[in-house]
Amino acid sequence: MQNRIHLSIAHLSGRELKYIQEAFDTNWVTTVGHNLDAFEQDLETYLGNQSHALALNSGTAAIHLGLALLGVEPEDEVICQSFTYTASTNPIYYLGAKPVFVDSEPDTWNMSPEFLEKAIEDRIKKTGKKPKVIIVVHLYGMPAKMDEIRKIARKYEIAILEDAAEALGSMYKGIHCGTFGDIAAISFNGNKIITTSGGGVLLSRNEDYVKQARFLATQARDAAPHYQHSHVGYNYRMSNVLAGIGRGQMEVLSQRVEQRRKINQFYQNHLSDREGITFQTEPSPDFYSNYWITSIAVDPLKTGDITREDLRLALETANIESRPLWKPMHLQPVFRDHPYYGNGVSEQLFKNGLCLPSGSILTEQDLARVVENIRKVIV
Ligand SMILES: Cc1ncc(COP(=O)(O)O)c(C=O)c1O
Repeated sequence: MQNRIHLSIAHLSGRELKYIQEAFDTNWVTTVGHNLDAFEQDLETYLGNQSHALALNSGTAAIHLGLALLGVEPEDEVICQSFTYTASTNPIYYLGAKPVFVDSEPDTWNMSPEFLEKAIEDRIKKTGKKPKVIIVVHLYGMPAKMDEIRKIARKYEIAILEDAAEALGSMYKGIHCGTFGDIAAISFNGNKIITTSGGGVLLSRNEDYVKQARFLATQARDAAPHYQHSHVGYNYRMSNVLAGIGRGQMEVLSQRVEQRRKINQFYQNHLSDREGITFQTEPSPDFYSNYWITSIAVDPLKTGDITREDLRLALETANIESRPLWKPMHLQPVFRDHPYYGNGVSEQLFKNGLCLPSGSILTEQDLARVVENIRKVIV
């Protein structure tokens, strides 16, 4: 059996160890320290757009705190892109609020501005209340249609929580994803474009939000010599040791973006001649994806009845990991009783879509093996 080709695994640079050593040498083996300050500074410099950063122990924690800071309370409704990973939606529940799901549009596979507006109008009509927040996601690194979405958010005065968990290094109209929302979240989980093994960051151009997030993420301790609390807090801060991994990873982030984009180009070059395979691609030069995961849709009507599941199983037999696209949240048993606005785009993508191995650690030989096996199945 040939070696296993994974979808997306950690790709360390070797530069992480010196920062981890620094944490050990200075004995800052806790949730405070120089690595944390420097990692946050590195992120702010990289992302620009006057963004402020707070490193946390997961992207999910960043979404949870973000929603809390944007005022989400029990029984509020929160609009969420349906085509996403469950971590975009779960924090709505943590706060006792209720999700309202919005479908994707076919260009970016992200939130449909048309159905976003329909959803807002209909929720106001049905409940007499505006949804509190819009959670928009840049899926697999592809920026959502932010101009259109922000226009609607402004019109109805609803805050945006930007889930950029998968989109570090992606840009829309030359501006980094993660700097558009009133608050944004990025993930450094082990499968992401850079990693801290597990971790995330909350971002905002509003420094007050970041100050409040720091307070809440460290158990909401009041200013007093003893431990006094007037708010319920969380233990969400990143470890200074793991921030050391983040510093080492930031040194190669631009390289990693280039590598993932090259992988996407390789797949496009070698598979675009195959009838029935379409790629998630940048709809115009306004969109710049980090191509965290190269994703395709397989149309069995054009492949001679070969489905994405046939393809996935054939790759698995060749010891190559691939994965169906995210199952939309409105189809998940746990969320099925909540409103959904759309016309089936995300359902169709889920039915036909496949994520291909995309880790920057993959060699050209690995990629050639993936392509060869796909071309054997879809001829
Ligand atoms: C779209 C999306 N949102 C949120 C998250 C949550 O990030 P984390 O795993 O760091 O909690 C992830 C990744 O895992 C994700 O892919």
